[in-house]
Amino acid sequence: MSIGEFSRVAGMDELPRGASLCVEVGGREILLCHTADGVFAVDNLCSHAQARLCEGKLKGQKILCPLHGAAFDVRDGRALSRPAIRPIASHKVKLDGESIMVALGD
Ligand code: FES
Repeated sequence: MSIGEFSRVAGMDELPRGASLCVEVGGREILLCHTADGVFAVDNLCSHAQARLCEGKLKGQKILCPLHGAAFDVRDGRALSRPAIRPIASHKVKLDGESIMVALGD
C-alpha cells in the first residue's frame, strides 16, 4: 500500500474501548488505540530507544512506554514526558462499518 491510501487493519470487535492492538500496515508496525475520543493509530516504536509501545499501557489518551516510562498522546503522537522528546508518527483512521481503516502518514 502507498502513503495516504486507506486499508482495513482490524475489526472493531478486536479493539474494545480502553484497549490497544498492534497491526502491520505496509510492513510497518502500527498501534491502534481505542480511547473515549475514538480510535487512533500511531507508530508502535517509542522515539526514545525503540521499545515496542504495544507492551506498554494505554491510560486515557496516553500510551506509556514499557521501557523507561515516557508518555505519548495517541491522538497526535506528541511526546508528553521524558525521556522521550521527539513525537511518534500518527496516522489517519476511519471507520467503515465495523472495519478499522488506516492510512499511513509519514
Ligand atoms: S524506550 Fe521508550 S522511554 Fe525509553
